Amino acid sequence: MSIKPLLNQHAFITGGSKGIGSAIAAKLSSLGCRVTILARNQDLLKAQTDQLNHKYPLPNGEKHSYVKFDLLRPSELEKFISEGKCFHRTNILVNCAGMTQKTLLMTTSPQEIADIINVNLTSPIILSKLFVKSTSRVKDPGYNASIVNISSVVSVPGNNLTGASVYTATKAALTRFTQALAAEQHAIHDRRPLSPLVRVNVLLPRHIADTDIGKSVKTPSVGTSTAEDVAQAVANLVTDDHNVGGAATVV
Ligand SMILES: NC(=O)c1ccc[n+]([C@@H]2O[C@H](COP(=O)([O-])OP(=O)(O)OC[C@H]3O[C@@H](n4cnc5c(N)ncnc54)[C@H](OP(=O)(O)O)[C@@H]3O)[C@@H](O)[C@H]2O)c1
Repeated sequence: MSIKPLLNQHAFITGGSKGIGSAIAAKLSSLGCRVTILARNQDLLKAQTDQLNHKYPLPNGEKHSYVKFDLLRPSELEKFISEGKCFHRTNILVNCAGMTQKTLLMTTSPQEIADIINVNLTSPIILSKLFVKSTSRVKDPGYNASIVNISSVVSVPGNNLTGASVYTATKAALTRFTQALAAEQHAIHDRRPLSPLVRVNVLLPRHIADTDIGKSVKTPSVGTSTAEDVAQAVANLVTDDHNVGGAATVV
C-alpha cells in the first residue's frame, strides 16, 4: 500500500474548482489530505468535491468539502472564515484563485482595477493573516503549517504581457508579500520556538494554455507549463520537511 504523506492534514485551496486549483486539490487529495475548496460557481464546486470524494475517499467518514465565497469582497472574509470555522484544523493554505485583466490600461475601468487587486492580492493577504493567526494558537513545533501562493512568472522583471499591467502589479506584489511574510514567520518562530514555523512559499507558473485564464493570453512569451506541474510543485513544498519558506519558484 502506498504511503499517504498528508494523511490527517487539511488544505484550504482558493480557486480549487477548476484550472490549476483543481489540479492542486486532486494532487493533495491523492496524498491523503482532506481538502476544502473555495470559489463562486456552486455547480463546479459541488462537481469537483464529489469527484474528489469518489476518487480519493478519506478514512473515518471525513469528506472533502467546498465553500462558496466571492473574493471580490475581501472585507467580508474575516467574518466568513471565522463564522464558518474554515481554518479549524487547517494546516495548509493555497491561495490560487485569480482573475486577469481584459484590456489595455487606458480602457481598464477603476472598478476592474479594484477587482483585480481584491481577488489577486488583498484576499490572499487577508487569508494569510487569518491562517497565521489560527496556527499561532498551536503549541507543537513539529506541526506542518504551510502557505503556498500562486503568483505568476510575469512577476519577474522582464516578463511582460501587453494588456496585463494591473495583473502583473498584483502578482509582483503577491510574490514580495510572500517573501516578507516568510521572513516575519521566521522572526516569530525564533522568539517562540514552541509554536510551529509557518512555511510561506510562492510559485510563479509560466503560461498554462488550457485554463480559462490561460486561454485569455493571446501571445505568451513567458514559456509554458501545465496545471499538473504546478500541483506537483505545491505537493513538494508542503511535504518537504527541509523547506523553510521564502522560496519563489518558477514552474
Ligand atoms: N493559466 C495561466 O497561464 C497562469 C499562469 C500563471 C499564473 N496563473 C495563476 O494561477 C491561478 C489559477 O488560474 P487558472 O489559470 O487556473 O484560472 P481559472 O481556470 O480561470 O481558475 C480560476 C479559479 O479562481 C476562482 N475565482 C476567480 N475569481 C474568483 C472570485 N472573485 N472569488 C472566488 N473565486 C474566484 C475561479 O472560480 P469561480 O469563477 O467559480 O469563482 C476558479 O476556481 C490564478 O491566480 C492565475 O493568476 C495562471
